[in-house]
This record gives sequence, structure tokens and C-alpha cells, in this order.
Amino acid sequence: MTTPLLTIEDLVVDFGTRRKPFHAVDHVDLTIMPGETLGLVGESGSGKSTIGRAILGLNPASEGRITFDGKDLSHLHAKDRKDIADDLQVVFQDPYSSLNPSLTVGQILSEPLMARQKMPVETARTRIKELLGRVGLPDDAIDRFPSRFSGGQRQRIAIARALALSPKLVICDEPVSALDLSTQAQVLNLLSDLRGSSNLAYLFIAHDLAVVKHLSQRIVVLYRGRIMEEGDADEVYNRPAHPYTRALIAAAPVPNVREQRARRAERMQTVSASSSAILHDGHDGCPFAGRCPLVQPVCRERRPAMTTVTTAANGTPTRVACHAYDPASGHPGI
Ligand SMILES: Nc1ncnc2c1ncn2[C@@H]1O[C@H](COP(=O)(O)OP(=O)(O)O)[C@@H](O)[C@H]1O
Ligand SMILES: [Mg+2]
Repeated sequence: MTTPLLTIEDLVVDFGTRRKPFHAVDHVDLTIMPGETLGLVGESGSGKSTIGRAILGLNPASEGRITFDGKDLSHLHAKDRKDIADDLQVVFQDPYSSLNPSLTVGQILSEPLMARQKMPVETARTRIKELLGRVGLPDDAIDRFPSRFSGGQRQRIAIARALALSPKLVICDEPVSALDLSTQAQVLNLLSDLRGSSNLAYLFIAHDLAVVKHLSQRIVVLYRGRIMEEGDADEVYNRPAHPYTRALIAAAPVPNVREQRARRAERMQTVSASSSAILHDGHDGCPFAGRCPLVQPVCRERRPAMTTVTTAANGTPTRVACHAYDPASGHPGI
């Protein structure tokens, strides 16, 4: 058994006030193996970025533990973070704000190389040109400013910066969400190619399950800070076990008109189920109970346990947090 590169155990991140705390991340467990891509999907506000930021040390954990490459990050002092900083990088959604507009691409990319690896200027320039080549940008990009590039090209620059120090894990937080569709596909393919030649792992965060599936081996589905379902990417996408995952798939636009119509009908059913069922404050039931077409009284009372089953052909276990889930038959009612 290989040791996971990243392990998150029982992570809680709180916002809100002491009197009215709000779990943006609510007892989350997940692992990423070396070289693996784990997709993290859920609608806006479900806590995806907060998990990414907790790993990066930007949101303190209220409870739980994050272990990266054998080191406990949750209790790491800021000054000790630099020991792991090279191995843990991030690409954010917005390539317009994540690159300093007053620096040339060469300066942006030489910063990590010279500051962290004390690389001489000439060696750094050679390495930068090599990095630009890897992300599909021409050599002469080095002396230009970010404003001279399109959104997709800027995201390539951000990816090159993340890769400069050959990290073990890159957190990609909605890296293609700001790009148009054809550019999205190019950047996704680039991320996929880059991983092929090294043992690079990604935590790939997006609100669109189809985008996440494109790149991920395993997928975690998050809703209101909790894991609803986790499993092999094909299994979660093609045979979703949790009603929330089904709703998420139903909400995604698809090119096929008939399929779109069928999905819209399914979504309407979910929405109408939700309007009559609003959760009370202070409950510890399932956060999806108010929108779930399969809701039962127990769903509002008790937090569903994680059930682990192995239905995927490759043996990857699926975890489902749903009272209605019957591991023997799959979901009743749908
Ligand atoms: N710094 C913060 N202060 C207070 N609330 C926050 C903060 N960051 C995020 N939140 C809240 O936490 C929840 C999860 O946010 P986020 O992790 O950004 O979701 P996602 O990335 O899935 O869209 C949201 O309700 C959001 O409003
Ligand atoms: Mg986010």
C-alpha cells in the first residue's frame, strides 16, 4: 500500500460568530495518493475553496488534521510552511487577478526559482523557457506583460508558475471556470498532459461535474460543507448513488436536446420536493433533506452515516452519506 500524499481527517472550518458558528467545512475526510487527481465538486458555496485554502494554510482548521507528505499541516507554524511550500502549489480561477500586471512573465516565473532555489539568472531564464514550452507558450512570452495575453494564455502562465518548483500537489481551484468552452478544453488537456510525465497529483476543484470528470480518477461530491458521495470518477458520473449527485448532473447543460429535457424534468421534480421542506435551525440531519425527492423523517433528525460499498469495476470503494441508500440494491425510488 502506498502512503497517501495528502490526508484530511475530520476537517472542520468555521466562519460566522462564536454564538452562531457556521461550519463551511463540516467533518470532511479525504485522501489523495501520489500522482492521483482527486476531483472536488459541488455547487457554489459548498466549501470547495475553503478546503483548498485550509490545505494551503489560508483558512485555519477548527477541528481535524491535514497531513501532507508525512507532515502535519494543521499545527504547522507559518515559518515552517516554507519547508513544504515548494511541493504544494495552487492555480486559482481568475488568471486576471492572480498574475502581477507590473511584472513580465519572466519576472513572474523567476520569482519562485530565484527566491526558493537560489537559481542564477541565466539558469533561471533557461528553465523559464523550458516551462513556457511545457505549457504551450512561445519563448518570447518571457519579456511580455500578462496584459498581452488572452485568458487561456494567462492561465497557462499561472500553471507554469505553479509547476516551476516541480511540486507534488497542485490545488487547481476552478482553473477553467473563467474561460470560454474551447479554451477550457485546451487548458484541461494541458493539465492532463503535464501530469503524465511526472508523479504530479491534483486536487481539482470545480462546480461542473463534467469538467471534474474529464481529469479526475476519483471524485468527491460536497454539499454545504459535507461529503455526500465519493468514488471512482466514472462510477460517480455514470451511476451516481446520492440524490444530490443526481441533481448536480441534472443541472448541468448537455448538448443533446432530448437528454436536456429529461434532465430538466428530473430537476423540476427535485425543486418541487424542496419547496415544501425547509430545514429547521440547529438540526443535524442531512443538509440535502430540504431538496431531496427521497426525503424521510430520519433525514431531518440524524446525520446520515457514510456507507462504503464497492461497485466500481476497478475496485475503488464508493462512500455515500444517505439514509435512503441501500448498498445491496442501490437507491430505491429512482
Ligand atoms: N472568509 C470567509 N468568511 C466568512 N464566510 C466565508 C469565508 N469564505 C467562505 N465563506 C463562506 O463559506 C461557504 C463556503 O465557501 P467556499 O469555500 O468559497 O465555497 P465554494 O468554493 O464551494 O463556492 C460559503 O457559504 C461562503 O460564503
Ligand atoms: Mg470556490
